[in-house]
Amino acid sequence: MAATGGAPFVLRAQTGAPRARVKIDTERVVGDIDPKLYGNFVEHLGRCIEGGIFDEKSPLADANGYRRDVLDAVRKLKVGLLRWPGGNFSSNYQWRDGIGPRDQRPPRLEMAWGTVESNRFGTHEFLNYAETLKTEPYVCANLGTGSWTDAQQWVEYCNSAEDTAMTRLRKQNGRAAPWKVTHWGLGNEMDGPWQMGHRSADDYGKFALEAAKLMKWTDPKIKLIAAGSSNFGGDADWTGWNRTVLEYLRHHADYLSIHMYVGNAANDYEDFMACSVELNQRIKTVAGIIDAALASEAPSRRIYIAWDEWNVWYRARGEGKETGRRILEERYNLEDALVVATFLNAFVNHADVVKIANMAQLVNVIAPIFTDEKRLYLQTIYYPLQLFANNSSGKALELFVDSPKYKCRRFDDVPYLDASAALDNGTLVVNAVNRHRDQALEVDFEIQDKRFAGPVEAVEVNGPDIKSENDFDRTTVQPAARSATAEGPRLRYRLPPHSYTMLKAKLI
Ligand code: AHR
Repeated sequence: MAATGGAPFVLRAQTGAPRARVKIDTERVVGDIDPKLYGNFVEHLGRCIEGGIFDEKSPLADANGYRRDVLDAVRKLKVGLLRWPGGNFSSNYQWRDGIGPRDQRPPRLEMAWGTVESNRFGTHEFLNYAETLKTEPYVCANLGTGSWTDAQQWVEYCNSAEDTAMTRLRKQNGRAAPWKVTHWGLGNEMDGPWQMGHRSADDYGKFALEAAKLMKWTDPKIKLIAAGSSNFGGDADWTGWNRTVLEYLRHHADYLSIHMYVGNAANDYEDFMACSVELNQRIKTVAGIIDAALASEAPSRRIYIAWDEWNVWYRARGEGKETGRRILEERYNLEDALVVATFLNAFVNHADVVKIANMAQLVNVIAPIFTDEKRLYLQTIYYPLQLFANNSSGKALELFVDSPKYKCRRFDDVPYLDASAALDNGTLVVNAVNRHRDQALEVDFEIQDKRFAGPVEAVEVNGPDIKSENDFDRTTVQPAARSATAEGPRLRYRLPPHSYTMLKAKLI
């Protein structure tokens, strides 16, 4: 976790830029960074799957119907875990509709997003897509309108090596070897009245417990993700939901799922940039609830946080009344990319308790990749995710951050500098966001117990303006290489206004 110090005033260097200081001690380890922190999510929603990753009629599709250009862009995100089929969609998904010959699959009314589900993309298409990407799949079971047997038989269909009716069906549908799906969700956002099959915490806890038992008895190796509360607004008793659910599931759940979307509807840059302050608070609160639930369990028993939906989402949002094909098609700008970088910092800084995080979603729908029939472009938020996923691995380090701070609508002490650090095989990676809109931040990075071995790689994500966006024929926000020079244990580096920078160097 990043400890922050410093007074809420701005220190100025001789150059005139505000200054900050970061102390790094490679022995102060927070925890192992799980590659699943760089997860993603595909839901049967708008053009995320059909028209996004999967487009059978497109000349850009491969023999399986997967868009090749999208696959290439997804590969570069090094997705550590891919969640499917929803989201809200999962709460009425009948998985048997999505297997067998495609042309014989039944179209069904889809009530989460007010459309018709063709069922042409189902279990085989998803799990084969994850295999193609070499990404771990995460299947969210229907605990809304589905039964315990539906959930249990889905695990059996995907994972069992026994000769049963379910595995015969799988083989008949072209897949001999089980996929061995490890991660299974026990429903989605079951605390929300918008969810099909919404229940009270007690009713969900009892129902999910029986599903969990059957699923784990089918395959004891699976990991289960219980639906925690994401209903933070208004009077929702979100801590109470999590406590009750864990009472029921503390012996069976391996993760507690939490979601968070943020936005800048008020067009208040400073306040928007501070969203991760709230995220950090929520992570600590949820971690405390989990600790309390496990107080009388064996010390080795762990339940981790799965932050399995998160992103900026407010423009293409209609209070649950979104319908049609081109829905949730958020266009992202630079300030959104900076918020995404601060969220990734928060996950790395809590790498001991957050072991899964899925950006929602992968393509077109609140997504880093945006397509039309012929092309794609990479939205601003693609780049921080790509830089973290490809570089920030190994051990998360606890940082001392001494930064000037500011006051905004919701928070009194927001550090201009937001940072995280990772150490992997002697290579240090620091991720630093300068939240300041107009001023550069001169930062002294000081290694306490080692020295920089040589050159420092610096990559900056920035743009001419906080509202800069990319488009099909215009890439305004993208990573750019910068130069940085360290001396012994010190690196002085100037972070430009409204920027995210990754610094990477070998230590000796
Ligand atoms: O990601 C979009 C939607 O947001 C998901 O379907 C739901 O789980 C959440 O409310």
